[in-house]
Amino acid sequence: MRVVLRFDQDCLANAKELAQTLQLPLLSSDQSLSENVDFELRLGAEGLSLREQSLSSEAAVAKTRKAARRGLKDKIKVDVRCDFINGELRHRRLYGGGKNQMILKATGLNKHKPSIMDLTAGLGRDSYVLATAGAKVTMFERQPIVAALLADGLQRLRSGGDEQELAIAQRLFLHQGDSLTCVSGLAEQEAPDVIYLDPMFPERGKTAKVKKSMAFFHHLVGSDDDAAALLPLALATARYRVVVKRPRHAPPLADMEPGLCFEGKSTRFDVYPLKKMPS
Ligand SMILES: C[S@@+](CC[C@H](N)C(=O)[O-])C[C@H]1O[C@@H](n2cnc3c(N)ncnc32)[C@H](O)[C@@H]1O
Repeated sequence: MRVVLRFDQDCLANAKELAQTLQLPLLSSDQSLSENVDFELRLGAEGLSLREQSLSSEAAVAKTRKAARRGLKDKIKVDVRCDFINGELRHRRLYGGGKNQMILKATGLNKHKPSIMDLTAGLGRDSYVLATAGAKVTMFERQPIVAALLADGLQRLRSGGDEQELAIAQRLFLHQGDSLTCVSGLAEQEAPDVIYLDPMFPERGKTAKVKKSMAFFHHLVGSDDDAAALLPLALATARYRVVVKRPRHAPPLADMEPGLCFEGKSTRFDVYPLKKMPS
């Protein structure tokens, strides 16, 4: 997979640092792109975003036309960024998430605000919902570009000038690295109350409603083939429970039946209780 970092001139210093960290070639805004590039990471005044090149070229135009004919034009999105301030997550913070709040029931968030480790953070959407409800969440993300997008989203959440957003950001901690390694070496007193897992699930057929950003993720991250190893590790580490997010009709992770399930339209939360949570 070939990725380049394109930057706006105002962001040159940050772009150089990021390119060095991620070991990516740098491209200024007026340089043209070679054909064999798969993803373009873009750094500008709006922060960091990732564009899948195959979708921004002719294929995207064709796709957009096809979607336009079906009245779906505005659903085609090719850029992915981590945005905790606007859009869906803002709506969820201000007005609640309806059935989406199943995640809070599954993780046992009530008066007691558990400490949570999210071993598969991705773009941090689930962690953000948990932190909004008052939990302290430590996130692990091993894909360096995804971790950079997440760090950028957190930075904007921290520095937007809104007190509530700042308080949420202060409950979110990010580690770039493989949780399988990081969590194995954890001392007993560092164990979290709850461990949360949401590994990638193999891409579904064309007819299924796979969210655009999820399809994109599949291309970038792959299918987390070692995901089954996370569950025994999580069960040996968490104090009170482990929660696994799955597509609704998927088999349980590592074929281990959960003690309890919360089912939504397309998603399921499998709960593996270890000890009664304080209420
Ligand atoms: C489906 S996404 C998670 C989406 C996330 N729950 C959200 O709300 O944005 C899965 C992510 O877990 C990461 N991942 C999988 N196994 C991991 C591991 N052992 N350590 C750290 N990150 C891992 C992948 O790189 C991917 O970004």
